[in-house]
Amino acid sequence: MKIINIALDGPSGSGKSTLAKGLSEKLNILYLDTGAMYRAAACKALSLGIDTLDEKGVASFIDGIDLEIRYIDGAQHTFLDKKDVSLRIREPEVSMAASNISSLKCVRLKMVEMQRAIAKSMSCILDGRDIGSFVLPDAKYKFYITAAPEVRTARRKAELESRGFKVNFDELLKEIEQRDYNDKHRDFAPLVQAEDAVYIDTSDMSAQEVLERILSYIKR
Ligand code: DC
Repeated sequence: MKIINIALDGPSGSGKSTLAKGLSEKLNILYLDTGAMYRAAACKALSLGIDTLDEKGVASFIDGIDLEIRYIDGAQHTFLDKKDVSLRIREPEVSMAASNISSLKCVRLKMVEMQRAIAKSMSCILDGRDIGSFVLPDAKYKFYITAAPEVRTARRKAELESRGFKVNFDELLKEIEQRDYNDKHRDFAPLVQAEDAVYIDTSDMSAQEVLERILSYIKR
């Protein structure tokens, strides 16, 4: 069977993961959330007490990291040192740590190697920052999903609050803008729209509208 990969790139809170889940159900192919892998690498550094921007310190463990992505009833679970860390990686302190650690070349090379191996083995939707531009430049479908920073902040706030975290809008907006800056300005494989990606601004669109728009491109 032919393997098809769909690349969804864009900044935090643009709606990629909701979209990827919808596409995964509609097209019956798995969804690989690549951000979860950077988040797990950040958790490892935090648990070792290593600064997430200390390239030497991070390089000392990244090649041997025991990180595994498993699918349970179609949903992705992230295992670190054999433990399911799917909830831990979503904690707010991990978000900035993941943004920092993802700027390190040694980390990206390791994660990209794993992502390419997964994408080669099965049809999947990958969401991230550099999927269409660097990880899978030959992906059959590529989309760049974005939204205004205030809209993305409001979405992230609602998501965090639904999970019981207390959130201040202005602080979260600042953090999102800082992460955007980090992701777009790192030296190696930054967040960028691939030349052949379809650009979609979801600021004024519902999740269902975004899903339908993407499906119409794919059907075309
Ligand atoms: O999508 P997310 O917020 O879970 O991603 C966490 C961090 O990981 C984000 O700040 C940027 C980084 N990331 C990346 O650099 N490349 C990817 N393909 C996915 C995520």
